[in-house]
Amino acid sequence: MSNSKYSKIKRILVTGGAGFIGSHLCEKLLDQGHEILCVDNCFTGNKSNVYHLMDNPKFEFYRHDITFPLYVEVDEIYNLACPASPIHYQFDPVQTLKTSVHGAINMLGLAKRVKARILQASTSEIYGDPEVHPQPESYWGNVNPIGSRSCYDEGKRCAETLFFDYHRQYGMPIKIARIFNTYGPRMQPDDGRVVSNFILQALRGEPITIYGDGMQTRSFCYVDDLADGLIKMMQTAFSVTGPVNLGNPVEHRILDLAKNIGELTDSPSKIVFRPLPQDDPRRRRPDIRLAETLLQWRPQIPIDIGLRRTINYFRCGAEDNSLGSKDKF
Ligand SMILES: NC(=O)c1ccc[n+]([C@@H]2O[C@H](COP(=O)([O-])OP(=O)(O)OC[C@H]3O[C@@H](n4cnc5c(N)ncnc54)[C@H](O)[C@@H]3O)[C@@H](O)[C@H]2O)c1
Repeated sequence: MSNSKYSKIKRILVTGGAGFIGSHLCEKLLDQGHEILCVDNCFTGNKSNVYHLMDNPKFEFYRHDITFPLYVEVDEIYNLACPASPIHYQFDPVQTLKTSVHGAINMLGLAKRVKARILQASTSEIYGDPEVHPQPESYWGNVNPIGSRSCYDEGKRCAETLFFDYHRQYGMPIKIARIFNTYGPRMQPDDGRVVSNFILQALRGEPITIYGDGMQTRSFCYVDDLADGLIKMMQTAFSVTGPVNLGNPVEHRILDLAKNIGELTDSPSKIVFRPLPQDDPRRRRPDIRLAETLLQWRPQIPIDIGLRRTINYFRCGAEDNSLGSKDKF
């Protein structure tokens, strides 16, 4: 039987808990005194991301693929399991869809059985190639159902549908967070994201590659802030289902990001420009007014501090995963 009947300490399942965001979430929930069951099939995540938690008697790691059913007693479920970068989710698109859809069905079924609250880590990709900037939660999106990114975008959209149908049909407490670009320690080094790309190029002394003129803007949320947002979302009243956007609305020009990383790493790397890929949006920025009102949440970590911590992580040898995650970042 779970502890929640007797105290505020909860038994919490984090799927994808050995991944980038999941490992930070596990850490924060443990710090709050909860018992954590981290479930991960280690497709894109790595046990080494949670090695530093293994000695904690309140932390348990279980290697499991959420496309198969799971029977455990928990009070809350954070469903984060899913490869998140195009390189990884396009590697096995069918498995990506199964993870989003069958995984959601399995986790919702579990939540229904044990009367747990459940939160879905959704994504800004729900909005597809948006015609509205910045994107409020009320925007339904512009998604190609048959493209090479659809396994991720449509899988996540279907998971949101499932969450709402379980909520309407069975009266279950559900929460949906739409996560925008997040960065920080334990990002995977070679998943093609701009922050990790620039940092690694700078640390290796290779040219820092900008696609286009660098005047396009992006916004980046530090992983600590994001994990706080997820926890706040889980703690909301039954009536709050979301979807709620979680991300950092501060925009940065890609050229400024490259220069900033060059300076922070003290790198001799030069910035080089390459042709802009097709359909690269000029701007991407979340509208977080709903999160501010409902959760009293807003990102707190300035980009310089977040970048320093991330650079430190990669400097300590993130490419050899066993090195980078020994310390708590
Ligand atoms: N990082 C971002 O900027 C971002 C943006 C939007 C949404 N998200 C969402 O947040 C979640 C976490 O993303 P992340 O950046 O930490 O990615 P990640 O790849 O580091 O973490 C995902 C984890 O899920 C695990 N996993 C994948 N398929 C699984 C399966 N079938 N069963 C069990 N475990 C499985 C992976 O091994 C990995 O540990 C994902 O659902 C992602 O879609 C992330």
